[in-house]
Amino acid sequence: MKESTFSLLFFVGTCLGLKLPPDFRRCRRTDSNTDLCLKNAIQSSLPVLAKGLPEFDVDSIDPIRIPSLTIGEGKGAVQVIQYYKNVEIHNIKSIIMNNVKSDIKDDGFSIVANGLLKNCVFEADYNLNGNILVVPITGNGTCTITLVNTKVTFDITAKVFTRNEKEYLEIKRFDVSLEPEKAEYNFRNLFNGDPTLGDTMNKILNDNWKDVLDDVKTGYEEALSIIFRRIANLIFKKVPLDEIF
Ligand SMILES: *[C@@H]1O[C@H](CO)[C@@H](O)[C@H](O)[C@H]1NC(C)=O
Repeated sequence: MKESTFSLLFFVGTCLGLKLPPDFRRCRRTDSNTDLCLKNAIQSSLPVLAKGLPEFDVDSIDPIRIPSLTIGEGKGAVQVIQYYKNVEIHNIKSIIMNNVKSDIKDDGFSIVANGLLKNCVFEADYNLNGNILVVPITGNGTCTITLVNTKVTFDITAKVFTRNEKEYLEIKRFDVSLEPEKAEYNFRNLFNGDPTLGDTMNKILNDNWKDVLDDVKTGYEEALSIIFRRIANLIFKKVPLDEIF
């Protein structure tokens, strides 16, 4: 179950439209250019979501904080289970939206939103013990993974449901996909702090960033999908549909 982050952002903007400054946008399905309206609404919602929405129990999306995250082994290059704690994902609010396509019906909607994120920075405590590219890797420390010039796609579907005679939206799917131009890895304290082995391993990871990332990318994307779907539902389940569209 996944969906597109950006429509989430848009909805945050729309449902708060009544309480926020007048530059906050709200889109109608009868607008002549709904997709353009949605794109602008999503874009202007990003800084609002970055602050968090305590009234909806929604934490900030910049950084996104995840107490613990486990990414399973890949099928190719990455033969290691990756354990992370105290994860912070930075810069989501800097996404530049460039295209939104929507299909809005009486019983639900689907939205595909594309954007570009210049530098997405993932920081965490890590614990690894296995093989990457057939080379043994072991370590426990802090790491920084930077995704450079990432094309981000959110693919969202929602259905209308009725509660106490009012209509609400439930987000069914919130797929996130990430296509970076490059990934940069820095795992500190690999091999119990052995600097030569650690530098060599970081170089191997960076020289082969694409094979390493592709093998486990869906793990990261699914983590983001779950977070965004959860946030979207925290908001939509409290705001009747007629306040949104
Ligand atoms: C790293 O090791 C310490 C001490 O054994 C442990 O408390 C910590 O949870 C480990 N880090 C991770 C990310 O598992």
